[in-house]
Amino acid sequence: MADTQDAITLLREDHRAVEKLFKDFEEAKGDGRKEKLARQICMELTIHTELEEKIFYPACEGNVEEDLLKESFVEHDAAKLLIAEIEAGNGESDEYFDSKVKVLSEEIEHHVEEEEKPNTGVFAQARKSEMDLKALGEQMAERKRELTEEYKNSGVPQPELTTMDEVQV
Ligand SMILES: [Fe+2]
Ligand SMILES: [Fe+2]
Repeated sequence: MADTQDAITLLREDHRAVEKLFKDFEEAKGDGRKEKLARQICMELTIHTELEEKIFYPACEGNVEEDLLKESFVEHDAAKLLIAEIEAGNGESDEYFDSKVKVLSEEIEHHVEEEEKPNTGVFAQARKSEMDLKALGEQMAERKRELTEEYKNSGVPQPELTTMDEVQV
């Protein structure tokens, strides 16, 4: 049986992969290349967010500072707004297209820093706890395979916000 990654290794690898996609986006030109990359970015982020919100963060409850987890949910929701906008938009013909992807990359950069911050970040706190990161990693890898298959066939669904329900915009 293949060696499975622990939960944090899996999530960190997702972070590196999406950073690479954002970099490719900045350098891309012509032939709808930016649109293709933006779609890829939205899909990767949607899957990653779902793995964290449904599996990893709930397992962190009681092991990671509550405020930090709450902020993570809010940061995810803020990013989901831009993801939904980019997904629904007209791609490269939108004069704000590049700016939207750029701002999304900045939001994600900040959020990833919070998760990966040495000693105090979400991952560092999880690492110090008694959480079974190996078992979580297996569960997340399995779910990641399912979601990737699903979204490749039917597209990325409209995101659901977890923390924002006061306004309709
Ligand atoms: Fe996150
Ligand atoms: Fe993350």
